[in-house]
Amino acid sequence: MNHFNIPTYDILSFEREIGNGVTNPLLMRTQHDLYVVKTIDHKEEPKVLINELVCYKLAKLLDIPIPDVAVVNISQHIIQSTPKLIELGVQPGKHFGSKFVSKAQPNLQPPMLRIATNLEDIPSIILFDQIIYNDDRTTNRGNLLFDLKQKRLLAIDHSHVFKIGALWDEVQLKRIHEEGICLIKEFHGHNYKVLLKYVNGNNPFNKVLQKVSELTIAAIEWCVSDIPDEWGLTDGERGVMIEFIWYRIENVAEILKLLKDQCPDWKGGDLSGF
Ligand SMILES: Nc1ncnc2c1ncn2[C@@H]1O[C@H](COP(=O)(O)OP(=O)(O)OP(=O)(O)O)[C@@H](O)[C@H]1O
Ligand SMILES: [Mg+2]
Repeated sequence: MNHFNIPTYDILSFEREIGNGVTNPLLMRTQHDLYVVKTIDHKEEPKVLINELVCYKLAKLLDIPIPDVAVVNISQHIIQSTPKLIELGVQPGKHFGSKFVSKAQPNLQPPMLRIATNLEDIPSIILFDQIIYNDDRTTNRGNLLFDLKQKRLLAIDHSHVFKIGALWDEVQLKRIHEEGICLIKEFHGHNYKVLLKYVNGNNPFNKVLQKVSELTIAAIEWCVSDIPDEWGLTDGERGVMIEFIWYRIENVAEILKLLKDQCPDWKGGDLSGF
């Protein structure tokens, strides 16, 4: 996939709190659509938003099913006329929005997968999680959505990735990188147990591996570029993040070897060449 622009939309109104999720996402209206918005406020650090945007760009390059994303601009005027936004301490400026999927169900259940039209994306989501070190999808029931209209499984919520979520900085991310490659913890959590039934046949990861093989370091640099200034990503942090992701991409063969031992229905196939 070629590089693409992330649109920026103005928020017209606050609708409601989504009502679950530790980041307390907010449903907000733009001139185009409704967005589930994660904000910089009293509680949340900009790192959550950086994680989301970088992982979204990488997800699109790897053809991972994910709702569209926009950077959303919340004006001082909207904040001042919305008591809830004042109470939450939402800052004026740019925040992260995931396009609201109106008829969607979190809480993955096996019957949904019997009617899902994108089962081939399941191995892709699992490998993607290992690349971004996302251990928030294996047990957390809110981080896979089933789009009831399209009957598609969607990956959402990349706030708590890179092993330590919003807590990373230059030193921490370098340290995690140097620990080497391992799978996420609790690999056999509830969601993964359900998903692993669909990691079967000889070459379940072929689709995503084709996309991985097309990645270059320039593509990863692009994923980490154009982050809104007010999110405060430093040049040093940008550099270690590129190295972190690129190392895991370059060592995808190592990830696959580890996955092979944990995916009992993956029948074999050739691991050479990666
Ligand atoms: N694009 C979307 N369309 C519809 N619902 C969404 C969307 N994004 C998030 N949600 C809903 O909002 C909930 C919380 O969103 P999300 O998981 O991104 O937030 P979080 O605060 O990081 O969650 P967590 O508690 O898992 O860390 C999701 O479980 C889902 O029900
Ligand atoms: Mg979540």
